[in-house]
Amino acid sequence: MAKIIAGMGTSHVPGVGAAMDNGKTGEPYWTELFKGFETMRSWHAQNVPDVTIIVFNDHATFYALDNYATFTLGVNEEFLPADEGWGRRKVPVVKGHPELAWHLVESLMADEFDMAVSGNLEVDHGLTVPLSIAYDQPAAWPTRVIPLCVNVIQHPQPTALRCYKLGEAIGRAVASWDEDITVGIWGTGGLSHQLGGERAGVVNPEFDKTFLDNLVADPLANTRISHAEFIREAGAEGIEMIMWNVMRGALGEKVKEVYRLYHIPVSATAYGGIILEAE
Ligand code: DHB
Ligand code: FE
Repeated sequence: MAKIIAGMGTSHVPGVGAAMDNGKTGEPYWTELFKGFETMRSWHAQNVPDVTIIVFNDHATFYALDNYATFTLGVNEEFLPADEGWGRRKVPVVKGHPELAWHLVESLMADEFDMAVSGNLEVDHGLTVPLSIAYDQPAAWPTRVIPLCVNVIQHPQPTALRCYKLGEAIGRAVASWDEDITVGIWGTGGLSHQLGGERAGVVNPEFDKTFLDNLVADPLANTRISHAEFIREAGAEGIEMIMWNVMRGALGEKVKEVYRLYHIPVSATAYGGIILEAE
């Protein structure tokens, strides 16, 4: 039986990837954050799952806003880093796991989640930056990846509770896969941030801390946050945090917090990272 061993939540700030790609991580702006990544990276080096489900969002890079599905599973053999305007990131191509991805599609559909399926998905900073944060700059990513793209960018987005329930269904789907493999699941995006408009630059450390605390001890509390509350408290793009609920729902009732990192500012955002082991 396949087993979910752990989850990670992490922001996916594109500047973090750019700092790495351009050799700038030693500059004063970045040193403290990258020091914080060291503990995360040593945990990841010792806990590489066979497959990682990365719950992420496309930032209208690959999908256009006139046809944006709520939940899309990527069943490709491999996923190219998408060109976001500066060429493709020079990071390894992401290797998929089509067999398990199709099993997820079928199991989730049977569980009444109407998934979109993509066989030609390319992945933007929402997915490649978390890989860089976890694994630094290897010649090849050490884990196979199943991307799960969530619409957090165009109204109407799925609710925080729906995302949690999707995670629970993913937990059931993984448990019903016969092969003895290990699976990780990551929720990406956030934490509080707003990139444009009058409140550009807003961050809310209290809201973020409560969200992270609840992720461990009272995950259902994070399913009761409305979209309006996310936007008011955590900025217009803070709604990306609903993707962390998918990750948390998949981990089951009890988790152990292994590591947490919180840093302000990274670009105009609060960086948050957490590693949770399934108990
Ligand atoms: C930025 C972009 C993002 O998608 C995000 O989640 C956080 C920050 C940025 O452009 O700085
Ligand atoms: Fe984003």
